[in-house]
Amino acid sequence: MIRTIRGTQDFLDLSFFMFATQTIQHHLQYYHFEQVATPILEPIELFKRTLGAETDVVSKEMFTIATRDGGEQICLRPEGTAPIMRAYLEHSVIEKPWKVFSIGPMFRYERPQKGRYRQFHQVSIEIIDAKTILQDAYLIAMLDRLFQEKFLLENYALLINFIGCLSDRKQFKERLDGYLDTVLNALCDTCKRRKDTNILRVFDCKNPACKKLYESAPHITDELCNECAEEWQKLKQTLELLSISYTHKPTLVRGLDYYNKTVFEFVSPDLGAQDAFCGGGRYDLLASQLGAKQEVPACGAAIGIERLLMLLEPLRDTLPIPQPPALQVIIPLGPEQQPLALLVADQLQNQNNVCVDVLLEGSVKSMMRKANKMGAQHAIIIGEDEQKQGVVLVKNMMTGDERVVRQKELVEILKVS
Ligand code: HAM
Repeated sequence: MIRTIRGTQDFLDLSFFMFATQTIQHHLQYYHFEQVATPILEPIELFKRTLGAETDVVSKEMFTIATRDGGEQICLRPEGTAPIMRAYLEHSVIEKPWKVFSIGPMFRYERPQKGRYRQFHQVSIEIIDAKTILQDAYLIAMLDRLFQEKFLLENYALLINFIGCLSDRKQFKERLDGYLDTVLNALCDTCKRRKDTNILRVFDCKNPACKKLYESAPHITDELCNECAEEWQKLKQTLELLSISYTHKPTLVRGLDYYNKTVFEFVSPDLGAQDAFCGGGRYDLLASQLGAKQEVPACGAAIGIERLLMLLEPLRDTLPIPQPPALQVIIPLGPEQQPLALLVADQLQNQNNVCVDVLLEGSVKSMMRKANKMGAQHAIIIGEDEQKQGVVLVKNMMTGDERVVRQKELVEILKVS
């Protein structure tokens, strides 16, 4: 039997997924974000230049596609920020700031495990041309309100850090390098390698011994220039003003290279090892990396839908998940009544917005059983006599009450009972 590819999954009931994405959509619309969509296929170069060639996502996890003539270098997008910035530049968008979001699948060739897939879904939320750091605070507050008020999440934390501008990071990297030299023998091989290739990423190491060492490592927030130090203060003060609880995590650097200044993650211990269900930050240099003549300051975040659903699952009963409309099931007793059944169904569905299904197979007994199993409010039975007399037999599936109703009056009866 042919099965799903490792790290991908089927959604046989999409209603919970849709509830989550529609709630986010609705929330974002109230913060004046517009929905956009970019292609799933993008040039590899888009991510190489922006996420960084040394990052795991680009160096190990890209789904690249062999084109027929071997000319174009394309891939399945691993994330949504670089494509949205590409679209902003490509279409010379003049709206400032451009507040947009997109919903869709992303692809990363990671080792699958709980909460980690090779095809997963993100809502990417971006504020392009966001000059002031207050935009970052507002974005974070908007996300926190979403998780707390709309999704009723309680067991999560907001971690933030500030990784400064390029020169701050250059200075910090030198200090960190000096610190790592003092503990070099105790570092794992990956950290030793990262020390030379992408030194900030040592902080992502999961090895307990390395983690312990990084507790005493220098903090980048102690190395900020005056301008960045002021922005960091302003960010924290604004979050406090908006009553957003956060934890400063000095080792939070995030796995993509385009970030500067603000970085943050929403994490929950309920998720296990892959504990981040939303992550983001500021990316002022991304536009220049894509060849823009001027810098386009920006900030954004992405929510991982699969991980969010894992957190929402235990709350299903308390969430305002919209109920499907009451179902009416039409049961024609013989083949001669089937066309009439379709006609009645068609009138109810299209002229009167009633949710209807028609059963066209099986014995009367099995169709009644099926209607019951489907949770039908009424079974609308049409036999030979009913057909001749222009009536139907309506059975209330809760009470068992039956009544004969003229076909024309059916809608009224369904509305009141
Ligand atoms: P990211 O941290 O790589 O950031 O991904 C954001 C979220 O996507 C994660 O917090 C996680 O919930 C989910 N996610 C990532 N990888 C997987 C996976 N393999 N399986 C399941 N879920 C996953 C970004 O992608 C940035 N583009 C976020 C951003 C937007 N920064 C600025 N704007």
